[in-house]
Amino acid sequence: MIVSRTVADVRAALAPGRDGWIGLVPTMGALHGGHEALLGAARRSCDTVVMSLFVNPAQFGDPTDLNGYPRDEGRDLEIARAAGIDVVFAPSAAELYPPGYQTWVEVTELGAILEGAHRPGHFRGVATICLKLFTIVRPDVAYFGQKDAQQVAVIRRMARDLDFPVRIEALPIVRERDGLAMSSRNAYLDDDDRVRATALSRALRRVEQDARSGSLAAGIEAGRSELAAAGIDPEYFEARDAEDLAPVAELDGRPVLVAVAAQVGGTRLIDNVVIEP
Ligand code: PAJ
Repeated sequence: MIVSRTVADVRAALAPGRDGWIGLVPTMGALHGGHEALLGAARRSCDTVVMSLFVNPAQFGDPTDLNGYPRDEGRDLEIARAAGIDVVFAPSAAELYPPGYQTWVEVTELGAILEGAHRPGHFRGVATICLKLFTIVRPDVAYFGQKDAQQVAVIRRMARDLDFPVRIEALPIVRERDGLAMSSRNAYLDDDDRVRATALSRALRRVEQDARSGSLAAGIEAGRSELAAAGIDPEYFEARDAEDLAPVAELDGRPVLVAVAAQVGGTRLIDNVVIEP
């Protein structure tokens, strides 16, 4: 496994494999089962697999959140090696954002709602780093997790709008046994909050059940009650068209995304479910 620290090095490492299929798995490290699922899918389908490992300052609003983000490169490299990754691109912040850096990608509408409304500038940072990774690596296919459903929508839109020739693969959410979506941030939860956090996936399951047996709107209400019972007041808990993220009131034959974000004891968690018609 090659570990590249610079744009020049990763390009040189990939040059011999350009004839084959190149897969990219962008990550911020602190790898868990969700990341491993993406790495496994990439390994199965691609000739060369690149994992990027970069805690992107541009997508964090809060400096405490950025500085406190869990980092353990040694462990992440071991996981990447075990997953059969060919190249890890782990640059410094100065390598990707050198002095004078001033170019940003903004997906204006999809990036402004849901997460974007609560984390201003977040998707500008995400879209910019992903476009940079795409131009650096030039992957045939890039792998993302449905855990960050809006991120997938933003990246798909960006690639389409800027005519970037890459296939975007979205993989299902990997969960703990009790339903909690795996996240690098789960490590921050104390025992009590860890139990309360399971209300998120329970609330989403409830919406799905109610939507299928009658009413999506009633399901959202029931889901909200589930969260309230756990003492959780969500930042948003909404049903949207799974593709264009337009608000939806009831199932209308198209897949519906139900997405939730909430602070649980100081840790911000997100989760979602797609209800297929
Ligand atoms: P990060 O949070 O490290 O996540 C990297 C990828 O793993 C994302 O595509 C995310 O959706 C996916 N992922 C995380 N938890 C998952 C889970 N429980 N199940 C399935 N997939 C999961 O997302 C980012 O980093 C960054 O925004 C990035 C795209 C790397 C740009 O900086």
